[in-house]
Amino acid sequence: MLNTYIEENKERFLQELIDLLKIPSISADSNYKDDVLKMAQELSKRMEEAGAENIEIIPTGGHPLVYGDKIIDPSLPTVLVYGHYDVQPPDPVELWDSGPFEPVIKKTDVHPEGAIFARGACDDKGQMYMQVKAFEAMNKTGNLPCNVKFIIEGEEEVGSENLEDIIKKYADKFSADVILVSDTGILSNETPSITTGLRGLSYVEVEVVGPNRDLHSGLYGGAVPNPLNVLSSMIASLKDEHGRITIPGFYDDVEEVSQEERDLMANAPFSKADYLKEIGLTSSMGEEGYTILEQTSVRPTLDVNGMWGGYTGEGAKTVIPSKANAKISMRLVPNQDYEKISDLFQKHFESIAPEGVKVKVTPHHGGEPAVTPVDSIEYKAASNAMEETFGKVPVPLRSGGSIPIVAMFERVLGIKTVLFGFGLGSDAIHSPNEHYGLFNFYKGIETIPLFFRNYAELKK
Ligand code: BES
Ligand code: MN
Ligand code: MN
Repeated sequence: MLNTYIEENKERFLQELIDLLKIPSISADSNYKDDVLKMAQELSKRMEEAGAENIEIIPTGGHPLVYGDKIIDPSLPTVLVYGHYDVQPPDPVELWDSGPFEPVIKKTDVHPEGAIFARGACDDKGQMYMQVKAFEAMNKTGNLPCNVKFIIEGEEEVGSENLEDIIKKYADKFSADVILVSDTGILSNETPSITTGLRGLSYVEVEVVGPNRDLHSGLYGGAVPNPLNVLSSMIASLKDEHGRITIPGFYDDVEEVSQEERDLMANAPFSKADYLKEIGLTSSMGEEGYTILEQTSVRPTLDVNGMWGGYTGEGAKTVIPSKANAKISMRLVPNQDYEKISDLFQKHFESIAPEGVKVKVTPHHGGEPAVTPVDSIEYKAASNAMEETFGKVPVPLRSGGSIPIVAMFERVLGIKTVLFGFGLGSDAIHSPNEHYGLFNFYKGIETIPLFFRNYAELKK
């Protein structure tokens, strides 16, 4: 009955997603504020049609969140579905093969049955919409086994900074037994996995100021501090020859993973050759003594995300810039605290500045790392659901990405999360030509109701 409903409506589900992908809900860019709001409004209509009640567009200090619920029986458990309808900026737009907000379906090697190309296709409109459509299918066929609440926010890609106040304010309204999030990935379409941890994030912007104006690089070059040269060597010194971060105290709170977890990771079906090939590399580079899976999940790291200054236009202009800037992210693991890390960074960065330049460090948003349990009812419900639809027991694996609300929900509301995502590493999220496999979209819609069924059953 439920599967028949999905089968009969799958074309419409896809068409609705395509329509949502046309709205450029870019949370980081204030020029798109109206589109972000329009996206919230369209989504709330779709949720209402799916059968959600008490729909509300809740304002925050920034972009609003969309709430809806369906309480069938207060004595039954409640699943809180979290997702985000905002997307990353599409830049650099010229590297897209088709418009980032003009969705097209194309076949790829990884997705022979087709994938939908658009910003947000996988992260997170496509995945969030699987939840809405799975709910619709359960609801319309009388198969909803427990209560559902939806929080779909519009500020995940900018750090969910206003969400904490809202969830504190609405703590009763948002109360639930478990949080279900489809905003992560699986190892491959043949090998399902469940994300069991996320890294935290400390994000800082730095500025180095030298001379009071841009200078002729011939007349002054050789005698003055060049902010771009200085910034480059300061940044280069943040990692040593072993790939370790040199900020004093940076590793103090890092929780070492157990040998058991390391063995598990070593046995995960991961191919270094395929990993490198897919991103066009011949070699990896990272902290010595750890595997790629470890380096990108249970170890912290530091990366420049952008750097600018001086002349970057066409041709050659001879100039020593007055200023140089960079945006730097640090991915954190349990039990690192992002505010403490931002502080340590700031102190260290200021201390290594050579005489003659001024250094300014501005911390941006952050997020706490999170680990989710694997020995819980909810993990079992998720694992059994995937086993049923993929024909294989999913591998538990921590991810290197960040979703700050996971730790926040646990800290503020005391609710644990199940990360039930279906994206692939090759889906190019945050990159040009982001896409989401139709296989993955439909697999999610098929698997999510099984989670609900298993969870309601196991909670009895
Ligand atoms: N959905 C991603 C995070 C993710 C992707 C986790 C794949 C695991 C697997 C999320 O939208 C994201 O991009 N988060 C940001 C953090 C935020 C504070 C800007 C990130 O990780 O950069
Ligand atoms: Mn996301
Ligand atoms: Mn994202």
